[in-house]
Amino acid sequence: MKIIGVSASARKNKSTHFLLEQCLNESRRTAETLGKSIDVELINLAPLKFNGCIACGKCKKGVLCSQDDDFQPLISQLADPEVVGIIVATPVYMGCMSAQAKAFIDRTVLFRRNGFMFKNTLGGVIAVGGSRNGGQELTIQAVHAAMMIHDMVIVGDGDHFGGAAWGSHPDGYEGDEIGISTAKNLGRRMSEVACMMQV
Ligand SMILES: Cc1cc2nc3c(=O)[nH]c(=O)nc-3n(C[C@H](O)[C@H](O)[C@H](O)COP(=O)(O)O)c2cc1C
Repeated sequence: MKIIGVSASARKNKSTHFLLEQCLNESRRTAETLGKSIDVELINLAPLKFNGCIACGKCKKGVLCSQDDDFQPLISQLADPEVVGIIVATPVYMGCMSAQAKAFIDRTVLFRRNGFMFKNTLGGVIAVGGSRNGGQELTIQAVHAAMMIHDMVIVGDGDHFGGAAWGSHPDGYEGDEIGISTAKNLGRRMSEVACMMQV
């Protein structure tokens, strides 16, 4: 089993990346405590260069994309049958997901058009805002909507919608204990559900 985390921040190793790492580490730890093994992989979109979908229709002919860019290697990584869950971590930009997150999500339409390849894959979301209440929950729900379009199975943090963190916390994002706990709880829930579904 494998869980893939996608960091959709414009910045490489900042708050979104940090929260996603916390989440994925907790996923791995939880699986171990349940006597199972879950590999985790982090895809960092920050250095990648790719645009949104151009609606050319090539993916209607197979698991293909006409755009020859940095999204191409992600296709096989995401199509791995070992993948049981995908966690999208995004900063809140203007009350919603980042352009990087939206471009990534739109490009995944090829999996839907080829037999709903993400069907039953678990989906979780982390949103990190510069304000404590800057649109994290709206952002999480916007990504959830795309996950439902894929017929994925939405997983929350066991209490609310998912990871909701404050990147500009007075103690730094590493000091946002509440936000970190929501990200960890999401990771824990992803593994609990994955292990339960595997039985
Ligand atoms: C273009 C832009 C728009 C933003 N809009 C919001 C917003 O609507 N709400 C909010 O809480 N923070 C907003 N922020 C702040 C980021 O969400 C915040 O700094 C976050 O921690 C950045 O993630 P990173 O550290 O991974 O880059 C915005 C930042 C940028 C650059």
